[in-house]
Amino acid sequence: MRRISLVLASNNQHKVTEIRKILPKCFDLVSLKDAGITSELPESKGTIMGNATQKANFVWGATCIECLADDSGLEVEALEGRPGVDSAHYSGFPISADRNMELVLSQLKGLENRRASFVTILALIQEGVCYHFEGRVFGTISEEKRGKNGFGYDPIFIPDGQSLTFAEMDEKRKNKISHRALALGKLKEFFDLNAEN
Ligand code: IMP
Repeated sequence: MRRISLVLASNNQHKVTEIRKILPKCFDLVSLKDAGITSELPESKGTIMGNATQKANFVWGATCIECLADDSGLEVEALEGRPGVDSAHYSGFPISADRNMELVLSQLKGLENRRASFVTILALIQEGVCYHFEGRVFGTISEEKRGKNGFGYDPIFIPDGQSLTFAEMDEKRKNKISHRALALGKLKEFFDLNAEN
């Protein structure tokens, strides 16, 4: 089996672990540290797609090794797509997932439309060409926080077809249906197709 080395443009250990579990064993994921990058990655483009591309370009520019960057967020319909690109620090700094969730819940108070989706954009740079893969999982925002697993907005997101929030599911179940899993599935398909050519 062909082995594929990829620098993963993320310092978030939780994400690295999640991506490692989802991708097939033929991927050797190289951490930023092992690729010699110790500085913060730039994330100043103002969109999820822009930030994923910016991070991938930065790593490619520094290492010339194939690299994969991702950017994700929660988009709430009644909030015109917010928190979106600002998901991590929606309620300001220092970052607090609890405060972020409280803010979303308070902004949705009394509103009937609780539709939302999590989106991940993966940006892959191979031989200098950038490819994008989008994963999106649709669902609703719960009335209150439920569950202890996961991170970020997991306790208030109920994916369509499920009664549990992401935070009430075990990791395995979330990883089958999450936005990241869907985007990584597309990436995997891309490599499978490429391997056939
Ligand atoms: P990132 O770009 O993957 O770091 O995601 C930005 C922010 O979106 C995170 O800090 C979380 O607040 C939120 N987010 C992204 N993915 C998830 C998820 O799977 N569950 C809960 N929150 C998430």
